[in-house]
Amino acid sequence: MEYKDLISRMKSVRNYKKDALNEDIIKKLEDYSEKSKRLVKDIKIEAMIKNRDEVYDRLKNIAGYNDIMLDAPHYLIFLSEEKEHYIENTGYAVEDIRLKAYEMGVGSCWITINDGELIKEKMNIKSDKKLTALISFGFDDNKNKVLYENKTEYNPSKAVVNIVEDNVSERLGISDVVYMKKWGENADPDELARLGLLEAFFYARLAPSTKNRQPWRFIYDDGTVVLALRKDENINEYEEKIDTGIVMLYYELIVDSTLFNMDWKFGRTENDYEIPSDYSIVAYCIS
Ligand SMILES: Cc1cc2nc3c(=O)[nH]c(=O)nc-3n(C[C@H](O)[C@H](O)[C@H](O)COP(=O)(O)O)c2cc1C
Repeated sequence: MEYKDLISRMKSVRNYKKDALNEDIIKKLEDYSEKSKRLVKDIKIEAMIKNRDEVYDRLKNIAGYNDIMLDAPHYLIFLSEEKEHYIENTGYAVEDIRLKAYEMGVGSCWITINDGELIKEKMNIKSDKKLTALISFGFDDNKNKVLYENKTEYNPSKAVVNIVEDNVSERLGISDVVYMKKWGENADPDELARLGLLEAFFYARLAPSTKNRQPWRFIYDDGTVVLALRKDENINEYEEKIDTGIVMLYYELIVDSTLFNMDWKFGRTENDYEIPSDYSIVAYCIS
């Protein structure tokens, strides 16, 4: 996949044409879902694409921001074995499926989950695996309505999500999300370019996140890239971990395609970089 191009263009689609996707596309998406990229290789997953009539009415008031379920012709239901880092692995794998769908002209959006077991029950899914992602799928009707807070009204603790009309979700600048050696020491893009990492950070910060809160910060320290995540009020642990998996995918996709194959390691670094109490170090890699 041409990841840079896809990442630059992809946006959440919340208004869909009524037309169903043809069977060939559905089959390709299902096949891809089984072999999509993984952060933790040995976690077993199951992915299925369901039609609107099997999903929408059943989940109408129990999934999505403020329980607003998105109305779409299809949905991806993603189940995962419950193992260490299985939620981050879901964020990583499912975002890769969304990129594949976008490459095939199919729009999608994450639909947040409060209670995966309740969703399984409503949909009569009998499985030992946890339901870890719900995604709407379909053709964009280009009505240009988006349901999130944009940067100008950015307020992660706001309970109500607004509908805004521009359909362009803004992102923080590279220097706002990448620090050099010390927390708060904004990185100089020229320096990142010299290190060969400018593109990786450029695209990583385009990662989608819950309510577009952009909770990730990177610290570059002598060849090590440290990833820190912010905790916000009104954001649950599930959303934090999905956001983590997605940004790990974006960074890795670009490093893999421009530099070398890299692997994230979960956990803290020896140096705690005196990060503020609302952030924690979740992973690092050698870059
Ligand atoms: C874990 C997660 C849950 C999300 N849940 C919802 C949701 O329930 N409803 C919705 O409209 N958008 C949802 N989104 C989409 C985000 O609001 C969106 O990705 C973000 O605002 C950035 O916009 P963009 O994807 O168009 O770049 C979710 C995104 C993530 C990563």
